[in-house]
Amino acid sequence: MTDSAGGTGEPRRAAADLAAWGRLAGLAGRAPSANLASLLRDSARCRALRCAAGGTLFDFSRQHVDLEVLGALLELAEERRWKARREALFAGEAVNTSEGAAALHTALRAPAADQPEAAAQVVPATRQRLMAFAESVRDGRRTGHSGRAFQRVVHIGIGGSQLGPELVTEALLSADCPLTIRFVANIDGHAIADALADADPETTLFIVVSKSFTTLETLANAATARNWLLERTNQREAVATQFVAVTARTETAAAWGLRPENIFPLWHWVGGRFSLWSAVGAPVALGLGEAGFAALLDGALAMDRHFREAPAEANAPLLAALIDIWNINFLGIANHAVLPYDHRLRRLPVYLQQLKTESNGKSTRHDGSGTGVHTVPIIWGGEGTTGQHAFHQMLHQGTRAFTADFILTGADGHQPPRPELADHHRWLLANGLGQSQAMALGWQHEDPHRAAPGNHGTNTFVLDRLDARSLGALLAFYEHRVFCQGLIWDINSFDQWGVEFGKGLAKILFDQLGDAPELADTAPVHATPGPDAATHALVSHLREINGKGGRQ
Ligand code: F6P
Repeated sequence: MTDSAGGTGEPRRAAADLAAWGRLAGLAGRAPSANLASLLRDSARCRALRCAAGGTLFDFSRQHVDLEVLGALLELAEERRWKARREALFAGEAVNTSEGAAALHTALRAPAADQPEAAAQVVPATRQRLMAFAESVRDGRRTGHSGRAFQRVVHIGIGGSQLGPELVTEALLSADCPLTIRFVANIDGHAIADALADADPETTLFIVVSKSFTTLETLANAATARNWLLERTNQREAVATQFVAVTARTETAAAWGLRPENIFPLWHWVGGRFSLWSAVGAPVALGLGEAGFAALLDGALAMDRHFREAPAEANAPLLAALIDIWNINFLGIANHAVLPYDHRLRRLPVYLQQLKTESNGKSTRHDGSGTGVHTVPIIWGGEGTTGQHAFHQMLHQGTRAFTADFILTGADGHQPPRPELADHHRWLLANGLGQSQAMALGWQHEDPHRAAPGNHGTNTFVLDRLDARSLGALLAFYEHRVFCQGLIWDINSFDQWGVEFGKGLAKILFDQLGDAPELADTAPVHATPGPDAATHALVSHLREINGKGGRQ
């Protein structure tokens, strides 16, 4: 059984009370950690900080970690009984302690025989339904209400109901895909307007994705899309035919007007930001077809097997998480950049912002006490080489410490091959390697304006090639890296109470920005004081701009 501390066995101690934590503090307190130039001359050390999994080489050798620190980090994992907690995750124990739920995203890509009972009962059948649906849309058997094949898919969802499918679809959608796939997340009317601007109401398929089926942005966009369709077809049948949904609230979706056969279930034991592998990934199945979706799942499964079978010292997600802990909690580094050197992965930074910061942007342990140590840093980034002309100046000559993940793809991935673009990819790789080397070693110059200190720790991950399988493995790597961080900090990586509060405020302010004659003082929200003077003044200003009456 999982105890209230989110893991099997005895309640856990705060991270800073662990013996290995004290050892690491001692190591961090010794003379400034050796600089990277000298660490990189130790080839045995470099070899120990590299491992491969899921078609990717994970190189941690450019981190401020020597073999003594590595040993203490591995002790930390053992002291946290990482294997027992990993198995509790895969077994479907209630690791999401504040909601008493499992986190079984791994079951979504596991063979049915390996899935915990709760998953085995529903996952295979739902995936079968999803695949049949996607193939019928792709080959034209499934049509709009007037009998014409679908040409455009409009995916309406936000956060975990958008970022994963959008990342994978934009990265891997082949030119010969019969469908245009657009994503609408923001409540800003420009988002839905853009997606519908040139859409044909007879050949547009809408997918409404919302685990809760209560998210303001998604419901507002779905309602606008439904009205758009009704106004242009004057057929209620069009909504029944051209809207499908993915949700854990199937009755709510049916009440909204969706046919039961057009609703794909999601389950409370799948977190939103971990749900790509479920029917939330419908755009991937539509865009890449059944084989593409299966390859994505297979890649993630390969990483799951690596995570469960590789020894700690060669376990990519665990090593990455332990080195994160060293950088964050012992070297005091408060930000981490994601630098994908592949245009197709341009959405990876924002996807990881949600995965990492909504999971581990916490300050409370499972038992409700404070962590007492820092948790996830600021996660940011941008595609290379574009970032070199935007923020790399700061990275090379600024005053801030940082760490980064460089993600490179070995093969250029042009299908069919494009020899005339070969140099493009070679320059891309050369820049990625050059930048990470410069951040590690810096460069000398007699003019101080032209020198750079280097000595910045970074990771380099090299995918053999970017395809559904390697991307599935990479995303699963990040999921397990987040899980390992959370277990060291003793926090719940699977809830997100921090995002609930703002929604209540928005409702109050929505009313105030409306036609209410007076900008009335409103009751405080969640026992916090009522709106502050700044909010009042800004609401008044906006009401004035938009010609609403009421007190200035
Ligand atoms: O950002 C808060 C959040 O609840 C995420 O965890 C989730 O992925 C997103 O909003 C969308 O939620 P839903 O799928 O319920 O619409």
